[in-house]
Amino acid sequence: MKVPQNCLHFMWFLHIITAETTAIIRNVITSAQFQEALKSVQPGDYINAQPGDVAVPFRGRFVAASNGTLGSSITITGISIEGQGETEDVGLIIKGDYWIIQGIKIHAAELIIKGNNNYLNASQVSGRPKFGLFLFGNRNRVENCVFTADKSNGTGVMVSGNENSLEGIKVSAKTAIYFGEDSCCGRINEALVSTEMLFLAEVIT
Ligand SMILES: *[C@@H]1O[C@H](CO)[C@@H](O)[C@H](O)[C@H]1NC(C)=O
Ligand SMILES: *[C@@H]1O[C@H](CO)[C@@H](O)[C@H](O)[C@H]1NC(C)=O
Ligand SMILES: *[C@@H]1O[C@H](CO)[C@@H](O)[C@H](O)[C@H]1NC(C)=O
Repeated sequence: MKVPQNCLHFMWFLHIITAETTAIIRNVITSAQFQEALKSVQPGDYINAQPGDVAVPFRGRFVAASNGTLGSSITITGISIEGQGETEDVGLIIKGDYWIIQGIKIHAAELIIKGNNNYLNASQVSGRPKFGLFLFGNRNRVENCVFTADKSNGTGVMVSGNENSLEGIKVSAKTAIYFGEDSCCGRINEALVSTEMLFLAEVIT
């Protein structure tokens, strides 16, 4: 069959458009696949674990270093991570920007968000880590999450960045939520705390 040259050009053009806009869904069932997916992920992609497909929680320290973009976030769903129970073991670090973390579970390790403009929803950190969630970045949003940290010396949520918001979270720890003195202009709505102390500094609601 003879295809006109301009038609071929048009098809090539379509191919480029498709390649740039198609999100890849990476289903992971092992820790190694999760590590690999975190390295190769692009803006708009999804990294998924189906709880039923994963025999054991993932083990290790997982780093999300890539950036999504405004309007093309990178999404992680359904991941479950088991730490080693050391008080400062870290399960997942979000170093990048524009990630959506939905419905993940971390046990016996910390969750750290260093990047900006990330969204953490319906997730939980349990066990007895020193920090349930450590928020270094700016403009991150945390909703509907549960953080349990060490009752004798742990902090549920440690906030050291700016303009981070916490909405509808539940916290159990020695210190529930600590806004560091270097932190400005955060927001807390409907936090349910089971704890001895709630330290807040520079919070504007
Ligand atoms: C992600 O974006 C930040 C700016 O917020 C930049 O500093 C960083 O280098 C970027 N990271 C990568 C892996 O491109
Ligand atoms: C947050 O998670 C809840 C529970 O899974 C879900 O119903 C809700 O749509 C999520 N919010 C967003 C903005 O995705
Ligand atoms: C926190 O308390 C636990 C026991 O409850 C202990 O094992 C750990 O060493 C303490 N950590 C620090 C930094 O004091």
